Amino acid sequence: MKGKAVIVGGSIAGISCAHALIAAGWEVVVLEKTTAAPTGCATGAGLGLDTVSFKLIQPWIKQPEVLDRMTLPLTVEYEQATDGSKNSTRTLAKDPNFNFKVVHWSDLHRLLYESLPSEVVLWGHLFLSLSMSEDKSSVKVVAKLLQTNETVEIVCDLLVGADGSLSSVRKHFLPDHKLRYSGYCAWRGVIDYSDNENSETLKAIKKAYLDLGKSCYFDLGSEGHVVLHELINRRINWVWYLNQQEPTFERNSLTTKVSHEMIENMYELAEKVWIPELVKVMRETKEPFLNAIYDSESLGQLYWNNNVVLIGDAAHPITPHGARSTNMSILDSAVLGKCLEKWGPQNLGPALEEYQSIRLPVAKEQVLFSRRLGRIKQRLPVSGHEIFDPTTASEEECKVLQLKNIPYHNGMPSILM
Ligand SMILES: Cc1cc2nc3c(=O)[nH]c(=O)nc-3n(C[C@H](O)[C@H](O)[C@H](O)COP(=O)(O)OP(=O)(O)OC[C@H]3O[C@@H](n4cnc5c(N)ncnc54)[C@H](O)[C@@H]3O)c2cc1C
Ligand SMILES: *[C@@H]1O[C@H](CO)[C@@H](O)[C@H](O)[C@H]1NC(C)=O
Ligand SMILES: *[C@@H]1O[C@H](CO)[C@@H](O)[C@H](O)[C@H]1NC(C)=O
Ligand SMILES: *[C@@H]1O[C@H](CO)[C@@H](O)[C@H](O)[C@H]1NC(C)=O
Repeated sequence: MKGKAVIVGGSIAGISCAHALIAAGWEVVVLEKTTAAPTGCATGAGLGLDTVSFKLIQPWIKQPEVLDRMTLPLTVEYEQATDGSKNSTRTLAKDPNFNFKVVHWSDLHRLLYESLPSEVVLWGHLFLSLSMSEDKSSVKVVAKLLQTNETVEIVCDLLVGADGSLSSVRKHFLPDHKLRYSGYCAWRGVIDYSDNENSETLKAIKKAYLDLGKSCYFDLGSEGHVVLHELINRRINWVWYLNQQEPTFERNSLTTKVSHEMIENMYELAEKVWIPELVKVMRETKEPFLNAIYDSESLGQLYWNNNVVLIGDAAHPITPHGARSTNMSILDSAVLGKCLEKWGPQNLGPALEEYQSIRLPVAKEQVLFSRRLGRIKQRLPVSGHEIFDPTTASEEECKVLQLKNIPYHNGMPSILM
C-alpha cells in the first residue's frame, strides 16, 4: 500500500520533501500558490549550503554535476570591524575551515523542481483549509485554483505544511501563535557583473576584500552588520541588517515594498558607515529589497493528529544568522522521509514522533543560537552580556561571532547514516 501525501508550499522545503517522500515510496502532490514554475533570474538571493545538505540533495537531482557548476565553495569566514569615518576594516576573527557552498536561491530551486516528475507540483493552488475525516485516519485539503477561482478537494493520509514562516497549516493548530520581530530588517541584493567583467566597482571590491571569491565576509559597523560574498558567474550577494522599528506589511508577506526614497536614504546612511568600495556595490545593485527579520519560540511540537506535520520555516521560523534555514529544510525533509520509510504508511504516529524527537530539539537550539548571534552583531542587548563592541572586543570575545559555534555543527542524525 502506498501512502498519499499533500505538501503545502513548493519552495525549498516543499520540493525537497517531495523528493524525500517519493524516495520513501509515497505518492506526493505539492500545492504551491505561486502561479508558475520559477525561472532562473539574476536578481534575488544567494544562500548557503553546508557539506551535509549538499550531500543529501545529490541523489534527488537528475544531474548532480549541474549542482557543482552552480555552487561556489567558500572556505574562509571573516568577521571584521568597519570604521566608516576612517574607511577602514580590521579582522576580528577568521575561520579557515568554513566549508560552505553558496548557490543562488532560484538556481537551487529550479534544479530541485526540474528533477521531480512533472505532475507532482500543482502551481497556482492556494491552500485554504484542512479537516479530519471522522475516524481521523485521513485529511481533507481544500485549495483554490487561482486562475479560475475553482476550489478542489484532495484527501490524503499525510499533510505536510511546508508553507513558510507565516504557515497557514500551522495557524490551523496554533491560531494564537505569533512571530517575534528581531528588531532589525535586512536590505539585500545581488549584483551581476557577468557582462561587465572590467567594471571598476568589481575591481575595487576585490581589492578591498582580497579573498572575496572564496570567502564569506561579515562586517560589523556602527549601524548593524553586512554579509558579503560572491556567487557563481560573477555575481555578488550582499545583505545589510539595520536596526529599526517593525515595518508594516501587505498581507502575508515579510518583504516590504520599497520606495525610491527609502533606497536613497539607505544609500546615504551606507556612505557614513561602510567603506566606499562596498557602498558602490550597493549603489549599483538593481532593485535592492527589504526583508523584515522574524523568528519564533519553539512550537513545542511538530505534528498533530498523527497525520499533519510541519517542516522548514513553517516548523521553526529562524533568523538568518546561523545560515541554516535552507539546510534545516533539507534536513527536515530527509529525516521525515526516512522515518516514514522505516515505519511504513500504516504507522504514521510513531514515524512522526520519531521525526519530531530528532528535529525539534535541534531546531530549538539553532533558532536560539541564531537569535543571539544576530543580537550580538547588531549590538542589541543579550542577557548576561555587555553590548558587543567590535572596536574594543578581545580576540577571545570575537570568537563568539563565528558560525561554527552553532549547536549540532556538522552533526548528521543517525537515521540518515
Ligand atoms: C526568493 C527567496 C530568497 C531566499 N533567500 C535566502 C537566502 O539568501 N538565504 C537563506 O538561508 N534562505 C533564503 N530564503 C529562505 C529559504 O529558502 C527558506 O527560508 C528555507 O529554504 C525554508 O523555506 P521554506 O520552504 O520552509 O519556506 P518558504 O521559502 O517561505 O516557502 C513557503 C512556500 O509556501 C508557499 N505558500 C505559502 N502559503 C501557501 C498557501 N496557503 N498555499 C499554497 N502555497 C503556499 C509560498 O508561496 C512559498 O513558496 C529565500 C527564500 C525565498 C523565497
Ligand atoms: C545543517 O547544519 C548543521 C549544523 O548547524 C549540521 O549539523 C547538519 O548536519 C546540517 N544538515 C544538513 C542537511 O546539511
Ligand atoms: C572615505 O571615502 C570617501 C569616498 O571615497 C571619501 O570621500 C572620504 O574622504 C574618505 N574618508 C577618509 C577618512 O579617508
Ligand atoms: C476570481 O475572484 C476575484 C475576486 O474574488 C476576481 O477579481 C477575479 O476576477 C476572479 N477570477 C475569475 C477567473 O473568475
